[in-house]
Amino acid sequence: MYLTDYPIDNVSISLCIISNVFKIGNLTLNSPLLLAPMAGITDLPYRMTVRPFGCSLAFTEMVSTNSLAYKSKNALQMICSQPEDRPLGVQLLGDDDDSILRSLENLPHNRFDLIDFNAACPVNKVATKGRGAGLLKDPEKLHGILKLIVNNTDLPVTIKIRSGWDSTSVNAAEVAKSAQDAGAKCIFIHGRTRAQKYKGKVDYDHIRVVKKSVSIPVVASGDGLSPYLIKRMFDQTGCDGVAIARGALGNPWLFPETVEYMKTGIVPPRPGIEEVTQTMRKHLLANIEFSGEMFGVIRFRKFYGWYVRGLPARELKIRAFFKNTKDEMMAMIDELYDHVHNLDHTRDLTVYAPITS
Ligand SMILES: Cc1cc2nc3c(=O)[nH]c(=O)nc-3n(C[C@H](O)[C@H](O)[C@H](O)COP(=O)(O)O)c2cc1C
Repeated sequence: MYLTDYPIDNVSISLCIISNVFKIGNLTLNSPLLLAPMAGITDLPYRMTVRPFGCSLAFTEMVSTNSLAYKSKNALQMICSQPEDRPLGVQLLGDDDDSILRSLENLPHNRFDLIDFNAACPVNKVATKGRGAGLLKDPEKLHGILKLIVNNTDLPVTIKIRSGWDSTSVNAAEVAKSAQDAGAKCIFIHGRTRAQKYKGKVDYDHIRVVKKSVSIPVVASGDGLSPYLIKRMFDQTGCDGVAIARGALGNPWLFPETVEYMKTGIVPPRPGIEEVTQTMRKHLLANIEFSGEMFGVIRFRKFYGWYVRGLPARELKIRAFFKNTKDEMMAMIDELYDHVHNLDHTRDLTVYAPITS
């Protein structure tokens, strides 16, 4: 029986889901809403910006085991954290036993709550070389890699998969069962094939089949762009949690808004421009502290664009992309505040579109 089949009203069901505390190995998550790993995005400043809004688990960007094995500067920066940045999963990308073992040796295990292994990355130079989603073509090899990681860490090991390589080779359920047998404690699934990359719609059926195939928790991702779509993911798949990715870009409010929607059936008003710009300032300062002024500001440019999504601020977004210093970027945030505050119609322009089909 799926959640939608229960003869109780929709809001009560959603309340059950949102209050659902679940465990990944020995790690207890206090909410089923997680922040998905995103390369180039989920660095320490971004995670610390999103955490106060209620994500129950966050991940590092995916880190190549080749780089971590050699302690490259880039890899070491990617696994940076701080005590408040918990619970935290580190996500590894690799395909050879040697670099995986060496990267496990170099990993400060006490900094993390779990190790996630990436078998989902669709990027050509990764997947066509048998890493990331490329491993979906070789479930046996993937099983061996997971066993190797499980045998060499005390942390819970999890896996991120896609539905399959392409529509003719959907094998997520088989891969998930094999991962469970290898000792994985949770399946994270993006319900698209590698061939789809990020296009087309997420396939709820693929996720539902995975959920029915394993006894460990299943956390879904794909099109979690609004409270309506996140609720639909729970309803259609029976998943234990949803990992939010693109929906949270410049929009950490999606976490509390989804909780509210699932508790009451009502999406609360969108944040006012004061709250949005306050969050932007904090995020920018955290970026600068982490990466220095030049790189911190450069890295923040794209976030500026995401924070203003849905606001009448196209021209500001374009100008922000050329700013280089803290003062210049802060001035762009102040200008955004003045611009939208004077218009006084933030909320009308930024409501999520309810699902119509
Ligand atoms: C910019 C970007 C970077 C991503 N990087 C990773 C990654 O490093 N590891 C991973 O497992 N998934 C990665 N993903 C996939 C997301 O975690 C998520 O599964 C996917 O975006 C589907 O969710 P969405 O449709 O809600 O965005 C990335 C997605 C985006 C948009």
